[in-house]
Amino acid sequence: MKILILSSSVRTGRNSHRVARYFQKKVSEVKDVEVEIFDLDEADFPLFKERLSHQDEPVQELNDYAEKVDKADAVIFVIPEYNGGYPAAWKNAFDLLYDEWKDKPAGIVSVSAGSFGGTQVQVQVQWVISKVGMINGGLFPVPNVTKNFSEEGEALDEAVHGRADRFIEGLIKRIG
Ligand SMILES: Cc1cc2nc3c(=O)[nH]c(=O)nc-3n(C[C@H](O)[C@H](O)[C@H](O)COP(=O)(O)O)c2cc1C
Repeated sequence: MKILILSSSVRTGRNSHRVARYFQKKVSEVKDVEVEIFDLDEADFPLFKERLSHQDEPVQELNDYAEKVDKADAVIFVIPEYNGGYPAAWKNAFDLLYDEWKDKPAGIVSVSAGSFGGTQVQVQVQWVISKVGMINGGLFPVPNVTKNFSEEGEALDEAVHGRADRFIEGLIKRIG
């Protein structure tokens, strides 16, 4: 079984990537599950002009991205909250694909500096993923990110582990 984590902040000095790292480690501890982070900052995709399926000569990086999503049994979106919404980089990367997302469970990890844990992002992302036929695989809000996770992706509050275990378990259960 394969789980792909999409780390969606491309911001200089970003903090949500530490949550992606946390989930990478946590998921890797689950038996028979392979996990990989796809980092949108590293990918550095240009601004969307057309879906990958409609491009005549897509660059290899886009084909590699599509293949990773296609081969994943489930996806964890780690998404920061910007002004009550998702960052452009996430939507930019999401809209490139369609069939690759379809029928796949998505766990939504929303990350914020504030105390509400990015709940507005969760509402929006649930709507967007439903449009391409993804399955809601669970919600994991992260408030006060720098207080709750170290840069290396260690949880600074032990209570996070139980919540993360239940989130991962719920996501895996939704894999058909
Ligand atoms: C443009 C921008 C808008 C933001 N808006 C919000 C917000 O609406 N609510 C909130 O709790 N945090 C907000 N933040 C803080 C981010 O949630 C915070 O930086 C968090 O660490 C996740 O984003 P990051 O991975 O880019 O660091 C905002 C940050 C930026 C850069």
